[in-house]
Amino acid sequence: MKTLAIVNLKGGVGKTVSAANMAHILAVYHHKKVLLVDGDKQGSASRYFGMYGEQAGTEALLMQLRDAAEVIYPTQYKGLDIITSNLELYKADRMMYDSEADEDMAMRLYVRLGYVKNDYDFCIIDNGPSVDTVTLNVLAAADDVLIPIRPDEFSFSGLLDLVEQVNGVREAVNAGLTLRGAFFTHWQNRETFWQARRSLEDSGICPVFQTAIGYNPKVPESTLEEMPLCAFAPRSWAAIQYKKLTAEYLALTDSGKGG
Ligand SMILES: Nc1ncnc2c1ncn2[C@@H]1O[C@H](COP(=O)(O)OP(=O)(O)OP(=O)(O)O)[C@@H](O)[C@H]1O
Ligand SMILES: [Mg+2]
Repeated sequence: MKTLAIVNLKGGVGKTVSAANMAHILAVYHHKKVLLVDGDKQGSASRYFGMYGEQAGTEALLMQLRDAAEVIYPTQYKGLDIITSNLELYKADRMMYDSEADEDMAMRLYVRLGYVKNDYDFCIIDNGPSVDTVTLNVLAAADDVLIPIRPDEFSFSGLLDLVEQVNGVREAVNAGLTLRGAFFTHWQNRETFWQARRSLEDSGICPVFQTAIGYNPKVPESTLEEMPLCAFAPRSWAAIQYKKLTAEYLALTDSGKGG
């Protein structure tokens, strides 16, 4: 199982839409077995699949109350399962924060997901816009990191903080953690956006994906309809671009070979 974390400390950049759609595309178009983990107390990824509710989810793994197999639910899409989230995740974060911080605390998600790693090809984890003990657990459990960026809210400082966080986790507990790169969402063909892209590429902070996800009203519509883009509007630009982005990511990973 290859675990991919979609992170950005900023809100509203497209983390959830990207995690949910990449998970759906890997399952439905690449025929992978995929586990989507909602790592945000807002539960947006769970809502996207119409699965938001009171059932135990990510928080139960972090509080060591359940095994992963007990909190995995099938979605209506073949090959795509989910571990949901809700406000209980906030409690889990507080409990971990108040407890004695040690290496074991950061490894709780990694350990729990380890029990199902032979059941899946990919695990995609959506994150909240924060640096907390949940994010720490997600980065400790991940193999790869992708960072969605909105060019109109572009900020090197936030990105640098995040890259430092990733480097810190790699040094402390997860030597295999790879920052695969950043990709633009809400993209529009405007000179200011191209400038933002060039300055990020020139900065060398992290690799930048070729594929950008254009600004497309079908995206918020799809979240309201609680349907991934390739099911809701398969011919929309956003659906096509998410397929390209997923293929670009797959080409970087070993699991992509031949698949
Ligand atoms: N390519 C796009 N075009 C138009 N709207 C988009 C696009 N991508 C995302 N959006 C919209 O932008 C908003 C933020 O997207 P999303 O919820 O994925 O961001 P997020 O980073 O997960 O936010 P949060 O930090 O609050 O979890 C949503 O309303 C979503 O529908
Ligand atoms: Mg989100």
